[in-house]
Amino acid sequence: MIVGGGIAGGVNHALKQRVRAWSVLPSARVADKYRVGVIGCGTMTRRHVEGYLACGRYEVAALADLDASAMREMDARFAIRTVHYTDARAMLDTERLDVVSVGTWHTGHSPWTVAAAARKPKAILCEKPMADTLGHADEMLIACNRAGVKLVIGHQRRFLPAYTMARDLIAQGAIGRVSMMMCFGGAGLPNYSSHQTDMFRYLLNDAECRWVMGNVERKTDRFERSTRIEDAAVAVFEFDGGARAIILSDVVPSYYQGALIYGTEGQINLTTEELQLLNAETRGAWQTHRPDGRFFKLEAEGEEFEWREGGAAQAAELAEWIDGTAPTHRGRAENGYKALEMIHAVYESARCHERVMLPMQTRINPLDLMVESGHLAPQRPGRYDIRAFLLRGENLSSDEAAGKLPS
Ligand SMILES: NC(=O)c1ccc[n+]([C@@H]2O[C@H](COP(=O)([O-])OP(=O)(O)OC[C@H]3O[C@@H](n4cnc5c(N)ncnc54)[C@H](O)[C@@H]3O)[C@@H](O)[C@H]2O)c1
Repeated sequence: MIVGGGIAGGVNHALKQRVRAWSVLPSARVADKYRVGVIGCGTMTRRHVEGYLACGRYEVAALADLDASAMREMDARFAIRTVHYTDARAMLDTERLDVVSVGTWHTGHSPWTVAAAARKPKAILCEKPMADTLGHADEMLIACNRAGVKLVIGHQRRFLPAYTMARDLIAQGAIGRVSMMMCFGGAGLPNYSSHQTDMFRYLLNDAECRWVMGNVERKTDRFERSTRIEDAAVAVFEFDGGARAIILSDVVPSYYQGALIYGTEGQINLTTEELQLLNAETRGAWQTHRPDGRFFKLEAEGEEFEWREGGAAQAAELAEWIDGTAPTHRGRAENGYKALEMIHAVYESARCHERVMLPMQTRINPLDLMVESGHLAPQRPGRYDIRAFLLRGENLSSDEAAGKLPS
């Protein structure tokens, strides 16, 4: 078994050799099905469960949620029978879980990942953004590393065939050197645009981001899933190799996952389904590609494709990483950490009025710091959460806000 290889800085050379040797062994070291438990049975872990079941490598055994109806709905939706817990720690203590999904709101990601890691499952799949602060993300890495637990952050678009095709075309030089990538976001940088900062690195073969410069506007007291967010933001990023990227967030009326990618010898327009390429070989015309996935066909699934394919392929690669037949996972936690770091560096740039060199030293959320210090006090007071509609029953704030998080 590869223990924690991807958590603290990538597999080393010796480990790579062992992985290559294992991957050609005829008797695969493959468990029958990995037993999964889910913490937080909401919108996104429905996609986790869909992915676990679609790839055929898992049994979903147990669910934990503060609200029993969320667990009943999960069972009904997928025609599964699971054991239900309103106390996630009781689930972790009772069930012999191989894999734990963490799908609470962002502030719950770190405490529940740390709690799960202490019970030593083989792996944890935690939703994005990795945490509410880089300090908490650090704690997740430490807890998983010391317990030998593989940790993946759910930036599932790394598994979309159009994204991978764009990455491969860029690596082959199809558009020359990437000079600029342009994205449009909304609903706050940590939620939506952490996928975009992750995508930039994926498209550049995980090149490191060198520096970030940006600004935010925050006149109202706006939150997203219990995390403070800005009203609007603009950001510029530079990567090793010289590529740059721009995000315009909440400043243009429409936004989407994907990018306009400009190279020295061509262009790519990328969406979650489609890749358009323009270069000398296409004779200056746009050439359209709509690739199918490993598990699903694009035309058959329509708008569901990105969710179904992303979820299944992400889960399948996790099983292969656990098996030892894949040397790592493309969503391993260091990548989720860097996606979050790039977002918080935009806030730090606004706070310090400077270009922020990475790795970033500040470990708390710079936007929180700006607001709480009075530097960026809301001018139209009154806290509101743009995802409050997700809450069930009488709840109008998350469990974290109600102080029910584990200590
Ligand atoms: N990867 C993606 O594309 C994507 C898409 C949507 C959401 N997300 C992420 O998924 C996470 C969850 O978002 P969502 O939209 O699914 O939220 P949601 O509100 O639909 O689901 C969260 C669930 O967690 C439960 N919960 C809260 N505290 C709990 C606790 N202490 N123990 C057990 N259960 C608890 C809630 O009752 C709720 O059912 C967020 O961090 C979000 O950013 C990712």
